[in-house]
Amino acid sequence: MKLLKFFLIVGLFGINIGVKSETVETAKPIDIVVYRSASCSCCGRWLEHLKENNFNIKDIVTDDVQKIKNKYGVTDKLASCHTALVGGYVVEGHVPANDIRNLLKTQPKIVGIAVPGMINGTPGMEMDDQKAAYNVMSFDKENHTAVFHHYEGPQ
Ligand code: CU
Ligand code: CU
Repeated sequence: MKLLKFFLIVGLFGINIGVKSETVETAKPIDIVVYRSASCSCCGRWLEHLKENNFNIKDIVTDDVQKIKNKYGVTDKLASCHTALVGGYVVEGHVPANDIRNLLKTQPKIVGIAVPGMINGTPGMEMDDQKAAYNVMSFDKENHTAVFHHYEGPQ
């Protein structure tokens, strides 16, 4: 009987820890390093979007973003304005915060995700009501790309 009680307590305690760590995890800010050029205004608006979504930003202004893109395997086909590093992944361009959270949660075997170019309606590129359909692309070491998340434009 004593033993059963012991297991019950351990069991309850275990469940408690499980629930607790899950809530802590979702509330925890995500550390991200962002490389951008000083003259980029949409970069600043994307940083605002990340801040609103509880990201902890290390903002690095550089006069050679291309060097950073080359270093982290961001090809011209994928390139946008800013390049970010988060949890061992590369995030290129105006990627929504939710996709970054998903990336970190699912841990796919890819190098990173990108929204190539500059697309109206992406976070930091809001232009009145203009919204284009766009894809968040994933890319791997061999430069294979795939659709990570498709966003619909206006219907
Ligand atoms: Cu931009
Ligand atoms: Cu930017």
